[in-house]
Amino acid sequence: MPKFTAIADAEKHIGSSVQVRGWIHRKREGGGIIFIIIRDRSGTIQVSVKKTAIKNSEWDAASSAAIESSISISGKVKKEERAPTGYEIEADSLNVTSNSEPFPITEYQSAELLLDKRHLWLRSQRMRDIMMIRAHVFRYLRKFLDSKGFYEITPPLLTQAGGETGADLFEVDYFGQKAYLTESSQFYSEAMTFSLEKVYSFAPSYRAEKSRTIKHLAEYWHLEPEMAYYNNSMNMKLQEKLLGYTANMLAKEHEDILKTFGVSRDALLNIKPPFKKITYEKAIEILNDKGAKKKWGDDLGVEDEKLLTEDEEKPIFVCFWPREIKPFYMPVNPKDPRTVMCADLQAPKGQGEIIGGSERIWNIEELKERIAEIEDAKQIKIAIENYQWWLDLRRYGSVPHAGFGLGVERVIKWMLNLDHIRDAIPFPRTINRIYP
Ligand code: 4AD
Ligand code: MG
Repeated sequence: MPKFTAIADAEKHIGSSVQVRGWIHRKREGGGIIFIIIRDRSGTIQVSVKKTAIKNSEWDAASSAAIESSISISGKVKKEERAPTGYEIEADSLNVTSNSEPFPITEYQSAELLLDKRHLWLRSQRMRDIMMIRAHVFRYLRKFLDSKGFYEITPPLLTQAGGETGADLFEVDYFGQKAYLTESSQFYSEAMTFSLEKVYSFAPSYRAEKSRTIKHLAEYWHLEPEMAYYNNSMNMKLQEKLLGYTANMLAKEHEDILKTFGVSRDALLNIKPPFKKITYEKAIEILNDKGAKKKWGDDLGVEDEKLLTEDEEKPIFVCFWPREIKPFYMPVNPKDPRTVMCADLQAPKGQGEIIGGSERIWNIEELKERIAEIEDAKQIKIAIENYQWWLDLRRYGSVPHAGFGLGVERVIKWMLNLDHIRDAIPFPRTINRIYP
C-alpha cells in the first residue's frame, strides 16, 4: 500500500518524494506543462506535470481531467518561488481516479444555488473550515461534560410528549397513533437523572416554527445536560464553564481557522466565567432606556436581543422571567413570585439566545398547579395524559434538579461570527428547504 502524505505536510518533505491524493481545485496548461492545484482536507498544493517527465497516457489523463476530478500523484517536493505556497510537487506519475463532469459551482454563485448544490459546496474551503470547527465544538462540549462526571444518554426522537409549547411540533403518523418529532429531549434526560444523576443528551431537536430568521432551523442539534441536586445558580455556573472551555480551546487550537472568519484568538480567550447576570426586569429597563417599548410579560424578539447585547463582549444571563411566558415545568421564584427560577443566556454583540435553562418543579402538587396556571394564562390545554410517565418522576422519590438546552448551531454562528445559522450545519432544514 502506498503511503499518502497530507498536503499540508508536504513542506516537511522538500527534497524527497511523496504521494498525495485529493481533488483538482484549479488547473492551467501551456508549453508542455500542466499546473494542477490539488486539494485534500488539510490544504492545497501546486503540482507541476511536465509532458517529458510522465507517461503519455498519464499526460492525456491530466490534460483532459476537469476541475473536481479526484486524482493521486507522486513526485518530488521542491522549492518553487512562483508556486502559491512557495513549493510544489514535480509529478513523476499520476492517476485520475474519477474524472469529473463539468462542476456546477463556479466562482460567483447565488446563495440559492449554493444551497441547491450544498452536497458539492461542502467541498469549499469555507464550508470545510466551518465543518471542522463544528466537529471540534462537538468534541469540546462532550469532553468538558465527560470530565465533570456526566454520562451521555440517547433519548428517543419520536415522542408523544409535546414539550415546550406544543405549538411548533412536526406531527408524525406513528403506526396510526399521533406522535411528534421531539422539540427537546429534556423530559427523557430528567428521567435518566434519577438514575445517573448527571447526564446529557446531544441530539437533534425539531421546531416547526414558521420563523424565517437568521437564527432558526427546523432541525438543530441540541445539547441538553440535566443534573440532580442542582439549582439555578449551579446551573449557570456550569454553563459559563462549559462555554468558556469550548471558546478557549477553539482559540488555543484553531487560531488559524478562526482568522479566516475574522475572529481573534483574544476575543475567544476572553470568554471565561463569570458572565454578567441581570434580571428580566432589568433587561426590560435597559431596553426601554434604549428606546424600546417593552412591558412586563413581553418576550424578547430578535431586535430586543440585539439592542440588549450590542455592547457586550461576553454572553450575559437574563434571569427570572415572568411565570406566564415560561414553560410549565419551571418553579416559581420564592423571592419574586411574579417570576420563575430560570435563566436564558444571550450571546454578545446581538447574536441572540444560545441557551435556555431552569430549575424543574420536582413536587407533584406544585407541578399540577403550574400546569393549570399555564393552561389558563395561555388559553391552551396541555395533553397531560401523554406526560404521566414524566409526572411519575415526581411520585417516586423525587429530588431537586435543573438543566439547560444549548443550540449548537447558535453557538457556532456566534463564535465564528457567521451571517446565517444555516452555514453552521451541513444540510440545513429551514422553512423553505429540505433538499438536498
Ligand atoms: O429555549 P429552548 O426552547 O429550551 C428548551 O427546549 C429546554 N427544554 C431546554 C432544556 O432545558 N433542556 O431551546 C434551547 C436552545 C435555545 O436557547 C437555542 O439555542 C436553541 O435551543 N434553539 C434553536 N436553535 C436553532 N433553531 C431553532 N429553531 C431553535 N430553537 C431553540
Ligand atoms: Mg428559549
